[in-house]
Amino acid sequence: MDALLLGADLEAGRRLMARLEAFADFTDEPRRLTRLFLSESHRRAAQAFIGWCGETGLQAKIDAAGNVVARYEGKRAGAPALMLGSHIDTVRDAGKYDGNYGALAALAVVEALSARDERLDHAIEIVAFGDEEGVRFRTTLTGSRALAGSYPEDVLDQKDAQGVLMRDALVSFGGDPERAGSIRRSDVVAFVEAHIEQGPRLEAEGLPLGVVTAINGATRLEVAVDGVAGHAGATPMNLRQDALTAAAEMVLSIEGCARREPDLVATVGRLEVWPGAANVIPGHIQFSIDLRAPSDLNRVAALGDVEARIFAIAATRGVRVSIAKSHEANAYVCDPNIVAGLAQAVETVGVPPRFLPSGAGHDTMAMGKLCPAGMLFVRCKGGVSHNPLESITVEDCAIGLKALTQFVRDFRAD
Ligand code: GLV
Ligand code: MN
Ligand code: MN
Repeated sequence: MDALLLGADLEAGRRLMARLEAFADFTDEPRRLTRLFLSESHRRAAQAFIGWCGETGLQAKIDAAGNVVARYEGKRAGAPALMLGSHIDTVRDAGKYDGNYGALAALAVVEALSARDERLDHAIEIVAFGDEEGVRFRTTLTGSRALAGSYPEDVLDQKDAQGVLMRDALVSFGGDPERAGSIRRSDVVAFVEAHIEQGPRLEAEGLPLGVVTAINGATRLEVAVDGVAGHAGATPMNLRQDALTAAAEMVLSIEGCARREPDLVATVGRLEVWPGAANVIPGHIQFSIDLRAPSDLNRVAALGDVEARIFAIAATRGVRVSIAKSHEANAYVCDPNIVAGLAQAVETVGVPPRFLPSGAGHDTMAMGKLCPAGMLFVRCKGGVSHNPLESITVEDCAIGLKALTQFVRDFRAD
């Protein structure tokens, strides 16, 4: 079965690709894409998104939690809303498509309907979430959790590496910390997120699209290791309490733990060394652990194992250690009706439906607590993501947009 792409579909795909290209210019750092939550580049990207919404007659707004939200009314004002979207924050030195594809594809769906003044039985809301990657503050998914009514209470007092409070950053961005915890959307009846796959399966099978069945659960930990800083030249090796060598052993043991379980993955993606000088034995280390698995039971068991190993290594090496949980999300099983609807849409645009789980986390996990939710995956080159080499083709961009539009047209709110 070949994907059914007409000239107009390809043209829509090209426009979306051009917009993704232009959107990547909103960055905090020259020559690479880094758009952290509530940063100046995030603010400018949000304003550009609002401007594009305005060009198609939508009044988009920044909500209290820092999401951009816009509504396209159905045949009758106040009809239940199908929400579409993804996030527009990025990791450091990111690709152009993670999150941004789903946010801009949602807008492109509405543009296509609006161009023909096509109104549906339901309204469509588009959302550009702000805090999916969790890079700037030690938290994640606060935008989608706000809409789902599970905004974490203590999050506003988090500080970034420069000491800026999330509460203050949210005010500068145009949000409202006092109201962020009370914007649950009881009028949204379903949520669908289009996203690049960020893995190699679709490419390996020669398929442009996939329908997500479930999203792996995840836990993030912050580990602080305290040794004793000392003179690198004058302290004999047997009298050291080196926090970095202890942390190094911990990092390797975390890797060993994850390698023993087939579906478990664990990553230490950030490690900070104090005081960080060539001639000083490191006295303090802070590092992150990100641990994920499709089975919540396996993830929790592995966490216990990881923590026990870390404490044992600390005891052997004579350093102190503390471990704090900064994020926890159980695995999410996508709504069966949304999965079936997406499979139908994918088939209608000429692609055999391929069902697959997501190893990466997504705003859909949070939105799934509010309403039925699901995801459409678009193939990406080599499965590479969180990397500037992230890449999709115009054809895949177009077929993803076409399938999402098909799903939206066929969607029934009851
Ligand atoms: C988001 O990209 C995540 O899975 O951490
Ligand atoms: Mn993403
Ligand atoms: Mn990501």
